[in-house]
Amino acid sequence: MKDEAIIKVENLGKIFRVNQGWAISKQEKKDIVALDAINFKINKGEFVALLGPNGAGKSTLIKILIGVLAYNAGKVEVMGIEPLNNREKIIGRLGIVFGQRSRMWHDLPVSDSFELTKKLYGNSNKEWEEWLIENIGVQDLLGRQVKKLSLGEKMRCELVNTLLYNPDLIFLDEPTIGLDVVSKQRIREALMILHKQGKTILLTSHDTGDIEKLCQRVMVINHGKLAIDLTMEKFMKLNDDMEIRVKLKNKLITLPKIKLEMNLVSDYEVVVTVKRKVLTETMKVIFDNFEVADLDFSAERVEKILMDLYKNEG
Ligand SMILES: Nc1ncnc2c1ncn2[C@@H]1O[C@H](COP(=O)(O)OP(=O)(O)O)[C@@H](O)[C@H]1O
Ligand SMILES: [Mg+2]
Repeated sequence: MKDEAIIKVENLGKIFRVNQGWAISKQEKKDIVALDAINFKINKGEFVALLGPNGAGKSTLIKILIGVLAYNAGKVEVMGIEPLNNREKIIGRLGIVFGQRSRMWHDLPVSDSFELTKKLYGNSNKEWEEWLIENIGVQDLLGRQVKKLSLGEKMRCELVNTLLYNPDLIFLDEPTIGLDVVSKQRIREALMILHKQGKTILLTSHDTGDIEKLCQRVMVINHGKLAIDLTMEKFMKLNDDMEIRVKLKNKLITLPKIKLEMNLVSDYEVVVTVKRKVLTETMKVIFDNFEVADLDFSAERVEKILMDLYKNEG
């Protein structure tokens, strides 16, 4: 079971043909290469991050995988099935949340959408439903009209709505976009549990906190190409620099003569840049040489790696 591929993509290519400029009468067409010779496999139970700058091709890839968008080249298999021409065979086994789009009925109470979803996709189970409602925390929202929910409440309901039929493979495109920290945390916790239950999850998010806390594998798409496909551990090693902000008890006139890469950012603050693997030794040097009032560690590791990557690839 363990190495069973749930998604297989070979040499996938997608070109959008669009009108050039706004003079439709001229009918000049331009090709946008949205995906270019993409290859990867995702096994059952993996939790994969799909990252990349705006316009990289992430949503295009997800749309192809769920069978709502045609492609121009290559092979795609989802749970052993070609999705585009067999959408009805797989749709009931896919969980889909697009952060900016809703699959619920705007004017109806949340519970009506849930009932409809269960009718459409079947496969529901009372115990599972209760578990979802409790763990994603939507008990108090069931009677509320969808359009009157806050963003965070709505997203939690979307998640329950798509998980009701207990899909094996879950696609999440920006599920925490615009959410406050509490809503975000609830969604993250639910995703962690789903992963432990053996679900396969593909997550696109601009929130690098989501990625770092949840995913074991990182795929980065840039300009339609798969630029990186690594385990989280290896991905993190792409940048092992760390910044330590040292706040000082006393005003500092000059930096001590020690072998550390550091900057005096104010009279009372020094920023030390250090490799993670020598963090412990460095802490000792810092305490030996400074009157430390407070410390702060940079936490934007994933962001730094991505920034370097996007810069280098133009
Ligand atoms: N329906 C469409 N028609 C024309 N071009 C599109 C369409 N959808 C996406 N594109 C283009 O394809 C590229 C990839 O878009 P998309 O997959 O939405 O990127 P991402 O989700 O990574 O931000 C972009 O250049 C975008 O403008
Ligand atoms: Mg997108």
